[in-house]
Amino acid sequence: MQAIISDLHSNMAALSVVLEDIRSKGITEIICLGDVIGYGPEPEEALDLAQTWKLTLLGNHEEALLTDANTFNVRARDAINWTRKKLDIESDDPAKIARWAFLEKLVPMKAVGDILYVHGSPRAPTTEYIVPRDGMDRRKMADIFSRFQRLCFVGHSHIPGVYTEEGYLSPSELCDIYMCEPGKKALINVGSVGQPRDGDVRSSYVTFDGESVVFRRIPYDIERTAKKIYSIPELDRFLGDRLKEGK
Ligand SMILES: [Fe+2]
Repeated sequence: MQAIISDLHSNMAALSVVLEDIRSKGITEIICLGDVIGYGPEPEEALDLAQTWKLTLLGNHEEALLTDANTFNVRARDAINWTRKKLDIESDDPAKIARWAFLEKLVPMKAVGDILYVHGSPRAPTTEYIVPRDGMDRRKMADIFSRFQRLCFVGHSHIPGVYTEEGYLSPSELCDIYMCEPGKKALINVGSVGQPRDGDVRSSYVTFDGESVVFRRIPYDIERTAKKIYSIPELDRFLGDRLKEGK
Protein backbone atom coordinates (compact mmCIF):
# COMPACT_ATOMS: atom_id res chain seq x y z
CA MET A 1 0.00 0.00 0.00
CA GLN A 2 1.23 3.47 -0.86
CA ALA A 3 0.27 6.94 0.25
CA ILE A 4 0.62 9.42 -2.60
CA ILE A 5 0.84 13.08 -1.61
CA SER A 6 1.54 16.29 -3.51
CA ASP A 7 1.73 20.08 -3.23
CA LEU A 8 2.65 20.33 0.44
CA HIS A 9 3.78 23.92 -0.01
CA SER A 10 5.68 24.29 3.27
CA ASN A 11 2.51 23.84 5.33
CA MET A 12 3.55 21.76 8.35
CA ALA A 13 0.22 21.87 10.18
CA ALA A 14 -1.33 20.17 7.14
CA LEU A 15 1.56 17.79 6.47
CA SER A 16 1.71 16.61 10.10
CA VAL A 17 -1.92 15.51 10.22
CA VAL A 18 -1.65 13.82 6.81
CA LEU A 19 1.44 11.90 7.92
CA GLU A 20 -0.36 10.93 11.13
CA ASP A 21 -3.31 9.63 9.10
CA ILE A 22 -0.92 7.67 6.86
CA ARG A 23 0.82 6.20 9.92
CA SER A 24 -2.50 5.23 11.49
CA LYS A 25 -3.21 3.07 8.42
CA GLY A 26 0.11 1.27 8.78
CA ILE A 27 1.37 2.68 5.47
CA THR A 28 5.13 3.21 5.29
CA GLU A 29 5.59 3.83 1.55
CA ILE A 30 5.16 7.53 0.80
CA ILE A 31 5.40 8.98 -2.68
CA CYS A 32 5.42 12.75 -3.11
CA LEU A 33 4.66 14.28 -6.50
CA GLY A 34 6.46 17.58 -5.87
CA ASP A 35 5.93 21.14 -4.64
CA VAL A 36 7.20 20.35 -1.15
CA ILE A 37 8.03 24.06 -0.85
CA GLY A 38 6.67 27.40 -2.09
CA TYR A 39 3.86 29.64 -0.74
CA GLY A 40 4.08 28.44 2.87
CA PRO A 41 6.15 29.32 5.96
CA GLU A 42 7.98 26.05 6.81
CA PRO A 43 10.18 24.91 3.90
CA GLU A 44 12.99 23.46 6.02
CA GLU A 45 10.75 21.21 8.10
CA ALA A 46 8.90 19.97 5.00
CA LEU A 47 12.15 19.23 3.13
CA ASP A 48 13.59 17.35 6.11
CA LEU A 49 10.58 15.01 6.06
CA ALA A 50 10.64 14.66 2.26
CA GLN A 51 14.19 13.29 2.46
CA THR A 52 12.85 10.24 4.36
CA TRP A 53 10.23 9.18 1.78
CA LYS A 54 10.50 6.51 -0.89
CA LEU A 55 10.20 8.97 -3.78
CA THR A 56 9.87 12.72 -4.10
CA LEU A 57 9.56 14.34 -7.52
CA LEU A 58 10.53 17.80 -8.74
CA GLY A 59 7.61 20.25 -8.79
CA ASN A 60 7.49 23.60 -10.55
CA HIS A 61 8.21 25.36 -7.23
CA GLU A 62 11.41 23.34 -6.66
CA GLU A 63 12.34 24.03 -10.26
CA ALA A 64 11.83 27.76 -9.71
CA LEU A 65 13.87 27.60 -6.51
CA LEU A 66 16.76 25.94 -8.36
CA THR A 67 16.63 28.30 -11.35
CA ASP A 68 14.43 31.39 -11.16
CA ALA A 69 10.79 32.22 -10.55
CA ASN A 70 10.45 34.62 -13.49
CA THR A 71 7.36 32.88 -14.91
CA PHE A 72 5.52 32.97 -11.55
CA ASN A 73 3.03 35.58 -10.42
CA VAL A 74 4.40 38.10 -7.94
CA ARG A 75 3.11 36.33 -4.80
CA ALA A 76 4.52 32.95 -5.81
CA ARG A 77 7.79 34.60 -6.90
CA ASP A 78 8.23 36.51 -3.64
CA ALA A 79 7.56 33.28 -1.71
CA ILE A 80 10.21 31.40 -3.73
CA ASN A 81 12.73 34.19 -3.23
CA TRP A 82 12.03 34.17 0.52
CA THR A 83 12.33 30.35 0.58
CA ARG A 84 15.68 30.50 -1.25
CA LYS A 85 17.00 32.98 1.28
CA LYS A 86 15.73 30.87 4.19
CA LEU A 87 17.38 27.69 2.82
CA ASP A 88 20.65 29.69 2.47
CA ILE A 89 22.84 27.92 -0.07
CA GLU A 90 25.96 29.70 1.26
CA SER A 91 25.61 28.16 4.74
CA ASP A 92 27.93 25.39 5.98
CA ASP A 93 25.23 24.02 8.30
CA PRO A 94 25.04 20.26 7.41
CA ALA A 95 21.21 20.28 7.47
CA LYS A 96 21.11 23.15 4.95
CA ILE A 97 23.72 21.45 2.72
CA ALA A 98 21.70 18.21 2.81
CA ARG A 99 18.50 20.05 1.75
CA TRP A 100 20.19 21.54 -1.31
CA ALA A 101 21.81 18.21 -2.25
CA PHE A 102 18.36 16.59 -2.02
CA LEU A 103 16.72 19.33 -4.11
CA GLU A 104 19.36 19.11 -6.83
CA LYS A 105 18.77 15.37 -7.28
CA LEU A 106 14.98 15.52 -7.72
CA VAL A 107 13.65 14.17 -11.02
CA PRO A 108 10.40 15.40 -12.60
CA MET A 109 8.93 12.03 -13.56
CA LYS A 110 9.31 8.37 -12.61
CA ALA A 111 7.80 5.20 -14.09
CA VAL A 112 7.48 2.12 -11.89
CA GLY A 113 6.17 -0.82 -13.92
CA ASP A 114 3.04 0.39 -15.70
CA ILE A 115 2.52 3.32 -13.34
CA LEU A 116 3.81 6.81 -14.03
CA TYR A 117 4.31 9.42 -11.29
CA VAL A 118 4.70 13.05 -12.38
CA HIS A 119 4.04 16.49 -10.90
CA GLY A 120 1.97 18.09 -13.67
CA SER A 121 1.57 16.09 -16.86
CA PRO A 122 3.50 13.42 -18.78
CA ARG A 123 4.07 15.80 -21.71
CA ALA A 124 5.35 18.79 -19.75
CA PRO A 125 6.22 17.31 -16.33
CA THR A 126 6.52 20.42 -14.17
CA THR A 127 4.44 22.95 -16.07
CA GLU A 128 1.30 21.60 -17.74
CA TYR A 129 -1.96 21.72 -15.79
CA ILE A 130 -4.67 19.13 -16.25
CA VAL A 131 -7.93 20.54 -14.87
CA PRO A 132 -11.48 19.14 -14.77
CA ARG A 133 -12.64 20.90 -17.97
CA ASP A 134 -9.80 19.14 -19.85
CA GLY A 135 -11.69 15.90 -19.23
CA MET A 136 -13.81 16.82 -22.27
CA ASP A 137 -10.83 17.87 -24.42
CA ARG A 138 -10.47 14.62 -26.38
CA ARG A 139 -7.36 15.65 -28.28
CA LYS A 140 -5.44 16.83 -25.20
CA MET A 141 -6.40 13.80 -23.14
CA ALA A 142 -5.65 11.30 -25.95
CA ASP A 143 -2.15 12.73 -26.30
CA ILE A 144 -1.60 12.63 -22.53
CA PHE A 145 -3.00 9.09 -22.25
CA SER A 146 -0.64 7.89 -25.04
CA ARG A 147 2.29 8.75 -22.75
CA PHE A 148 1.66 6.24 -19.94
CA GLN A 149 0.88 2.53 -19.83
CA ARG A 150 -1.89 2.07 -17.25
CA LEU A 151 -2.08 4.63 -14.46
CA CYS A 152 -0.62 8.10 -14.06
CA PHE A 153 -0.59 9.97 -10.73
CA VAL A 154 -0.30 13.77 -10.83
CA GLY A 155 -0.68 16.84 -8.61
CA HIS A 156 -0.02 20.49 -9.65
CA SER A 157 -3.62 21.72 -10.18
CA HIS A 158 -4.44 21.10 -6.48
CA ILE A 159 -7.80 19.64 -7.62
CA PRO A 160 -8.23 15.94 -6.87
CA GLY A 161 -10.11 13.51 -9.10
CA VAL A 162 -9.87 10.86 -11.80
CA TYR A 163 -9.58 11.37 -15.55
CA THR A 164 -10.49 8.44 -17.79
CA GLU A 165 -11.09 8.34 -21.54
CA GLU A 166 -14.71 9.25 -20.71
CA GLY A 167 -13.90 12.43 -18.81
CA TYR A 168 -13.30 13.74 -15.28
CA LEU A 169 -14.90 12.54 -12.06
CA SER A 170 -14.48 14.32 -8.72
CA PRO A 171 -13.80 12.30 -5.55
CA SER A 172 -17.37 12.96 -4.35
CA GLU A 173 -18.78 11.64 -7.64
CA LEU A 174 -16.65 8.53 -7.04
CA CYS A 175 -17.68 8.25 -3.35
CA ASP A 176 -13.94 8.71 -2.67
CA ILE A 177 -12.88 5.42 -4.26
CA TYR A 178 -11.74 4.56 -7.79
CA MET A 179 -11.43 0.90 -8.70
CA CYS A 180 -8.98 0.46 -11.57
CA GLU A 181 -10.41 -1.54 -14.45
CA PRO A 182 -8.29 -3.98 -16.49
CA GLY A 183 -7.28 -2.51 -19.85
CA LYS A 184 -8.57 0.95 -18.93
CA LYS A 185 -6.17 3.83 -18.42
CA ALA A 186 -6.71 6.47 -15.76
CA LEU A 187 -4.95 9.63 -14.66
CA ILE A 188 -5.40 10.40 -10.99
CA ASN A 189 -4.88 13.79 -9.39
CA VAL A 190 -4.18 13.31 -5.69
CA GLY A 191 -5.04 16.90 -4.72
CA SER A 192 -2.95 19.09 -2.43
CA VAL A 193 -1.83 18.59 1.16
CA GLY A 194 -0.89 22.18 1.84
CA GLN A 195 -3.09 24.38 -0.35
CA PRO A 196 -6.32 22.67 -1.56
CA ARG A 197 -8.12 24.59 -4.32
CA ASP A 198 -11.33 22.64 -4.85
CA GLY A 199 -13.36 24.58 -2.30
CA ASP A 200 -12.68 22.01 0.46
CA VAL A 201 -10.16 23.42 2.94
CA ARG A 202 -9.07 19.99 4.23
CA SER A 203 -5.78 18.41 3.15
CA SER A 204 -6.05 15.94 0.28
CA TYR A 205 -4.07 12.78 -0.51
CA VAL A 206 -4.71 9.23 -1.73
CA THR A 207 -3.88 5.67 -0.74
CA PHE A 208 -3.20 3.11 -3.49
CA ASP A 209 -2.95 -0.68 -3.21
CA GLY A 210 -2.28 -1.45 -6.88
CA GLU A 211 -5.97 -1.73 -7.79
CA SER A 212 -7.97 0.86 -5.89
CA VAL A 213 -7.36 4.53 -5.18
CA VAL A 214 -8.94 5.97 -2.04
CA PHE A 215 -9.27 9.77 -1.73
CA ARG A 216 -8.71 11.07 1.82
CA ARG A 217 -9.49 14.52 3.27
CA ILE A 218 -8.01 15.49 6.61
CA PRO A 219 -8.84 18.66 8.58
CA TYR A 220 -5.89 20.58 10.01
CA ASP A 221 -5.15 23.73 12.00
CA ILE A 222 -5.41 26.27 9.16
CA GLU A 223 -5.14 29.22 11.54
CA ARG A 224 -1.71 28.02 12.70
CA THR A 225 -0.29 28.11 9.17
CA ALA A 226 -2.11 31.35 8.27
CA LYS A 227 -0.65 33.10 11.35
CA LYS A 228 2.85 32.00 10.40
CA ILE A 229 2.34 33.33 6.87
CA TYR A 230 1.04 36.67 8.23
CA SER A 231 4.15 36.97 10.44
CA ILE A 232 6.55 36.80 7.45
CA PRO A 233 6.48 40.10 5.52
CA GLU A 234 7.77 38.53 2.29
CA LEU A 235 4.76 36.17 2.18
CA ASP A 236 1.61 37.85 0.87
CA ARG A 237 -1.33 37.73 3.32
CA PHE A 238 -3.44 36.29 0.50
CA LEU A 239 -1.44 33.05 0.82
CA GLY A 240 -2.86 32.66 4.34
CA ASP A 241 -6.36 33.85 3.42
CA ARG A 242 -6.72 31.40 0.54
CA LEU A 243 -6.16 28.41 2.87
CA LYS A 244 -9.39 29.38 4.68
CA GLU A 245 -11.34 29.27 1.41
CA GLY A 246 -9.75 26.26 -0.25
CA LYS A 247 -8.95 28.33 -3.35
FE1 LIG B 1 1.58 23.30 -6.37
